[in-house]
Order: sequence, then structure tokens, then C-alpha cells
Amino acid sequence: MTKPDSSLDSGAKRFYLTTPIYYVNARPHLGHAYSTIVCDAIARRKRALGIDTWFLTGTDEHGQKIERSAKLAGKTPLEFADVIAGEFRSLWDRLGIRYDDFIRTTEPRHVRGVQKLFATLRDKGYIYKSTYTGQYCVSDEAYVDGPPGTVCPTCGRMTETVSEENYFFKLSAFERKLLEFYEAHPEFMQPESTRREVISFVRGGLKDLSVSRTSFSWGIPVPGDEKHVVYVWLDALANYMTALGYGSDDPADKARFEKFWPADLHLIGKEISRFHCVYWPAFLMAAGIPVPRSVRANGWLLFDDTKMSKSLGNIVRAETIDEVLGADALRYFLLREIPFGQDGSFTFDALVRRYNGDLANGYGNLVSRVVNMMHKYFGGVVPEAGAATEAEEALRATAERTLAEFGPAFDEFNFSEALKGLWALVAETDGYLTANAPWKKPAERSDADHVALQARVLATAAEAIRIITALVYPILPASAEKVWRQLGLGEIDEAGKQAFLMNLQWGGLKAGTRFGEPAPLFPRAEKDAMERMQNLENENSASAVDAAAGTKIDAAARNKNVDPQQAPASPSVDPTTAKDTATAHANDALTPTTVVPQDAARPVATAQVHPVPAEIASARLSSTPATAPAGAPLTPDAATAEQTAPPAEEKHFITIDDFAKVDLRVAQILVAERIPKADKLLRLEVDLGYEKRQILAGIAQYYEPEKLIGRKIVIVANLAPRKMRGLESNGMLLAASLPNNAESTPVLAGFLEDVPLGARLK
Ligand code: MSP
Repeated sequence: MTKPDSSLDSGAKRFYLTTPIYYVNARPHLGHAYSTIVCDAIARRKRALGIDTWFLTGTDEHGQKIERSAKLAGKTPLEFADVIAGEFRSLWDRLGIRYDDFIRTTEPRHVRGVQKLFATLRDKGYIYKSTYTGQYCVSDEAYVDGPPGTVCPTCGRMTETVSEENYFFKLSAFERKLLEFYEAHPEFMQPESTRREVISFVRGGLKDLSVSRTSFSWGIPVPGDEKHVVYVWLDALANYMTALGYGSDDPADKARFEKFWPADLHLIGKEISRFHCVYWPAFLMAAGIPVPRSVRANGWLLFDDTKMSKSLGNIVRAETIDEVLGADALRYFLLREIPFGQDGSFTFDALVRRYNGDLANGYGNLVSRVVNMMHKYFGGVVPEAGAATEAEEALRATAERTLAEFGPAFDEFNFSEALKGLWALVAETDGYLTANAPWKKPAERSDADHVALQARVLATAAEAIRIITALVYPILPASAEKVWRQLGLGEIDEAGKQAFLMNLQWGGLKAGTRFGEPAPLFPRAEKDAMERMQNLENENSASAVDAAAGTKIDAAARNKNVDPQQAPASPSVDPTTAKDTATAHANDALTPTTVVPQDAARPVATAQVHPVPAEIASARLSSTPATAPAGAPLTPDAATAEQTAPPAEEKHFITIDDFAKVDLRVAQILVAERIPKADKLLRLEVDLGYEKRQILAGIAQYYEPEKLIGRKIVIVANLAPRKMRGLESNGMLLAASLPNNAESTPVLAGFLEDVPLGARLK
């Protein structure tokens, strides 16, 4: 018998769990789906164990980042948020996410609760007014220590300097209290890496935290001082309480809050652990409210070895996988493939392999064999199994071991191990079936003996399938529902409501049960499945519609704050260059788009300068070597090759539309500095007039940094960001490449006339 146990079990008969609330500046992608799917699986298992469960998700709709995104789309922030919040909800429906509540931080119930929390903190003397001057990362909505020009340590983007009179929270007063709390509650934050990181952050000393902003208005007004809006993280974190009813006088809300607070589990991405494990408990301690029981961080879903993220242009949409393989395939893949807590790479290839191997050929095939034979040999009615032989005892023993091990592994967040164990039972049941071959009657076996064997084998295999299906239901809800019906057991959701996992044990499938009709579960994915998914992603990026604006936005214009009229005329994006043209630079807020990650670092600028006029054949305009893959040595091999005559393939002309895809802009260098331990690289901050950004360029051996400051240069502004030496490069400089022995010397392109910043070269 499985019982509610281990770390996911609060010991009580109720369980409250939450996902992070998602920013509405971009459409949902697999990275968002990951945490939500994990929470849904946990919630479904809890409910099926008879635990009164409350599962909350929602959207984080305030803040500077959303305000900017909305402005870019020509919408009010709320209109903008409405569209994206709707997309999250409909995606969750598609993926079988069964949440109990979806909170939007723009809802009155949330606004009221946040204001109450703020007022409580102020009344208790933990909030005071002062002036904040420092750096702020708009993308992460986080304050960053350091001088102007500091890059955000979380996302690598350039911070902005903020100087405002703000309200401050006395975070410094909680340093010791937090450390004592972590010590007393090792279960509070996991995995260990997160715990260590958070503890060392707090040990490093806590400074008071600015908890209001005045330089923009898209937020919740500070009660009694409405020119301030509440800092978006204080606003957002409070959702976990406001959704339950904190701040409401309604007795039903009060009762819900009483019943479910404190939360048992906040599931979060690892990069937001500081907010959840430091700020959040400190706010709650200050307000005199119990702190959550646990915060658990998941790793990142990577694509092309980089965190899947809209601003890096390497996202995959969950809808695509749902459309081709079904949502259950995605749910299974994410939980089986990635050891929870670690980063995991997503590839279509791995997805299809798992799908075919484990689902189509494994579980799906097993169910189909047994259901079909039950219909063929017993008219779809489960026969009496008769006396068990050694073979049945062995299968039963495996099933019972699986029953005993699955729950604890799952409840310890070892989803992958739990599923691996369960699939061993799938394989054993399959092997049992094959070994006993109920479809084959040897001549020496009497008819009666054969029917007895068929009955024993099919009833036993069907029972194993029942156990497997019950256990896998939280992960494969749609498929489990189909199988449950085929086993003649009715609606699995109903069984869930009856807490069927609580008393799950061998022997529950009764003789006389009438099977439902066979129905396909996981049709084998053929060769074209991967191609279809790739195409869907390509089409999506090619017709990238700004969901919030509801208008088609040119790929290049999507990237930055430019008039779409000035951007390349063609509305279609070559999927092979989609990443280059549709990738964000300065901050997330500016690019509501999705693109297919392919072909990350293409030497775009080089390709554009063609044909090469004879007089400059030996000094071609090329990109500075900042396009080398991250970590690669920046020796300009490509540039060297370019010194010779144009190779034959360059005779293939490009069209004017091809050229228009490259966004060449005038920029001015504001900051130039060497990068420790990278003797070829300079870190530049450049001003494009409409935004500032960081570019890394391999020119350190040829240019003194201080001599570059103030210089106007040409950059490729829509090149996919690359990380080098832990820093993000958002574009690339253009330079003539002069032969110089085995190497080449770059000479930066510039102008004789005065040109405005941001002017486009075409
Ligand atoms: N709005 C804040 C959270 C506030 S919670 C009070 C936020 N939003 S987010 O949309 O940027 O991210 C939401 C969650 O999605 C985070 O936990 C983040 O880690 C997760 N993911 C986004 N991209 C991801 C991957 N590529 N992989 C795994 N999770 C990722 O942060």
C-alpha cells in the first residue's frame, strides 16, 4: 500500500503548492511548461492520495518590463497582459494542467492583499523612506550591486542606473533570523546547490531593499502614497497569499487562507531562489505571518546548451509537441528525461526516441496487446485468473516492489527514477506476456488448459497494467484516462476523487469486469514527426505574430524600438536566419516573439558584403571575431580565408531582401575595457540612440580601449546574443580585415560625416 510519505508530505491532510507566476511580456514556452507540469503531476498525485490539495498558478503582470513591452506593442499594459495571460491559460488547458486557481496580479483581490501586506510591514516599522541610487536590471526586475555599466549577474544584460526616492524594507534586520531559520529547517530549500547559494548570499550580508518605485506607474500604488508603486517582486511574491484570500474580509476567503497557509511547496526556477528564499521569508517574518514549508528549485531546460528563453531566441513551444505527439508525451519526457533539479537539454530527437521507445513501443503496445486479446479470447470480460504459478508470483512481486518504491521516489522529486522503476514493470509485464504466449496453443496442450493459461496470463497482465496506469496517472493523465476506460474501470478522475492511490494494491481488477473498446494510445512517431515539429516551429517564427498587438511585426522591427516601417519590407522570415533576425538584445521587454533555434552564429556581415570590389579584395569588410562560438578561441581564421579571392560559391548572389535582413546601425562606444584573462576581447558598451547594449569584440590586440571611447562605429544590431567568458555579447562590430602574416588586423568601419546614432545602413 502506498502512503503519503517523505518530503512532499506535509503530514497533514492538506497540501498547498504553487508555480512561479509567469511574466506576461512573452508567450509561454517549454521552460514555463516545465515547472507547471511538475506541479500538476504532484497535485494530481496528492489528490489521488486523498489529500486536500490546492494548486495555484498565475501571471505576474506589473512592472517596468511589462510596461515597456506593452508600449512597444501599442497596447495598454492591461490589454497586453490580457492576451498573454489568456495564452498561458489556454496552454495549461492543452497540457492537462488542473490548477485550482489562476491568479493575475492585476486582479483587485491581489491589489488589496498587496496593499495590506505593505501597510502591515510599514505599521510594524519595517519600511522606511530613503533614496536609492544604483543599478537595476529591468529584465529580472532586480536591484544589482555595482557602478553604472554593471552587467546583471543573472541574465548578463546591461543594468540601468536608477535614482529615486523609494520605500525601503529593513532586510538587514533579518540576516541572523534567516540563517537560524535555514539551520533549523534544512527542508525549507532544496536542492543542496540552491541551499548553499542562498546561505552564502545571506552570510555575505543583507542590505535593506528598495520596495517601491516612482519612475513608472504600472504597479500597485503604495497605500497612502500613490506616486509610488510597490516593487514588483514584493507584489508578485504576495500572490501566494492573496490568491488564498489574504487581505479579504469575506469569511470564505479567510477560511481558505486559514486552511492552506503556509504553503507546503513553492516550486520555482533556480534563478529566482533569492527572491523566494531570502526576501519572501523575511517579508513574512516581518509581517508576523508563517513562512512556507518548502521552496524547491528546478533546473533549466536548455536548447542548444543555453537556457531556453525568449530573449535568446531558442525557445520551443509546448503547443508544437502537443500537436504532433500529444501533451502526455511532453509531460512524460520532461519528468523522465531530466533528473529534477538539474539542467536538461531539450532536443526533438531525444523526445521522439523516448516517445517511441517508452510510450509507443512500451506502455502503449503492452496495453494494446492485452486489451485486444481480452476482447478476442474472452469477449472483453476479465476471466478468473485461477491459481498463480511462479511466473505470476514473480510479476506480482515486481509490481508490489514498484508500488512500494514509486511513491517515495516521486515524493522526493526523483520523478525520473520513479518512472524508470515503473517502466521496469512495463518491460517485465511485456516479457511475461511474450514468455507465456497466450496467443499460441502448442499441440500437446489441451483446449481447457490453454483457456486456463490465457485466463491466468491475461488477467494477470491486465492487473499489472492497472497498477502501472494508476501510478502513472499524475504524469500521463490523458492516456491513463483512456487506459482506465479500456480496462473497464470507468473514469480515472472519479477514481482520483476516491483517493484510489491511497489503497492501491495488487488484485484490484475483478473477474467479470467488462473492458472498454480498444483505442489507440501512442501511435508510433514516424520519421517525419521531427520534421513536422521543426516545421511548426519554423512556421510559428516566420509568421511571428505579436500576440498582444495582434499584428504582424516585422522580425527586425520586433527586436528593438524601431518603427516597423523602417525595417525590412518582407514579412516573411527565412527560418534559417530567424534566430539572427528575431533575437532580443537589450532586454526581454522589447521582443514579444518566438523563434526557432538553428544556426546560432552565422557570419552574417561577411556574407552580406558581396561582390567584393577589386580594389578592396584584400581588405574585406568583415565582422570582428566576436561571432566566434562562446568559448572558442578568437583567432580570425575566417578573416584569414577572406584575404584570398572570393571562393566560387560566393558567386551565388543574394537578393536585396537577404541583405535587408541584416540590421546594420550606427553606434557610439561609451565604455571600452579589457576583460580579465581574455587577452583578445574587449567589453564595449555602445549607444544606439534608442538603446544601449553590451558587445564583446575580439579587437583587444589592435585597439587601446581608452582610444575607442566616443568613436562612432557600425554594428550588426540583430545578431543573436552570444555568451563569452560569462558575458553576453549583443551584436558585432564591422571592421575591414587587413592581412597581417597568419592573422588579420581589424580596422573599424566609421564615417567622415557626422551621423546620428541608430541610423540604419542600407
Ligand atoms: N515573474 C517571475 C516569478 C515571480 S514568482 C512570485 C518570473 N517569471 S518568468 O516568466 O521569467 O519565469 C517563471 C518561471 O519559469 C521561473 O521559475 C523560471 O525559472 C521558469 N523558466 C523560464 N525559462 C526556463 C527554462 N528555460 N527552463 C526552466 N525553467 C525556466 O521569474
